[in-house]
Amino acid sequence: MKKKLLSLAAGGALLALIAPAQAQFAKPEDAIKYRQSAFALIGNHMGRINGQLKAPTPNVQVIQSSAALIETLSKLPFEAFIAGSESGGNPPTRAKPEVFKDAAKVKSLTEKMQAEVGKLAAVAKGGDVNAIRAQFGEVGKSCKACHDDYRKD
Ligand code: HEC
Repeated sequence: MKKKLLSLAAGGALLALIAPAQAQFAKPEDAIKYRQSAFALIGNHMGRINGQLKAPTPNVQVIQSSAALIETLSKLPFEAFIAGSESGGNPPTRAKPEVFKDAAKVKSLTEKMQAEVGKLAAVAKGGDVNAIRAQFGEVGKSCKACHDDYRKD
């Protein structure tokens, strides 16, 4: 009985998450474009931080600004994995079909990445390049953890 209530509650929460998101995209292609765009921007700013970390004298302000943007951007792509957007898009979506089935796993990988990104923004404010480098590595791992299972090559 308890289990059934729980699963009902979880189903309700899921619907509450999905319904408004779906209403925000007129067609599945729009959702695909939205998440690809958000990821592309996240990737661009990860690249900028990486570039600074490789420079002889990293510009901490550039790192701080990109880290703050990534923290905001990291909230965007996941609402766009809506039902009906499993295929299609231009360029075609690289999301594996499992993204749309393993909701709990994808959510936990998403939250892990968001937590690491939040830490990166905080560490960047401190300005210690070695600490930033270490946390940047943790962010990278959290991206890869999802891509390994849920993104096509
Ligand atoms: C929970 C899973 C997940 C996490 C975490 C994740 N990604 Fe992705 N990423 C995806 C999926 C799925 C796609 C394919 C999206 C599509 O094509 O519809 C993608 C696509 C991308 C792309 C290609 C975008 C394009 O041009 O189409 C980049 C770049 C990217 N991710 C970077 C990152 C970075 C950097 C992080 C970490 C800060 C990250 N991702 C974290 C799942 C994830």
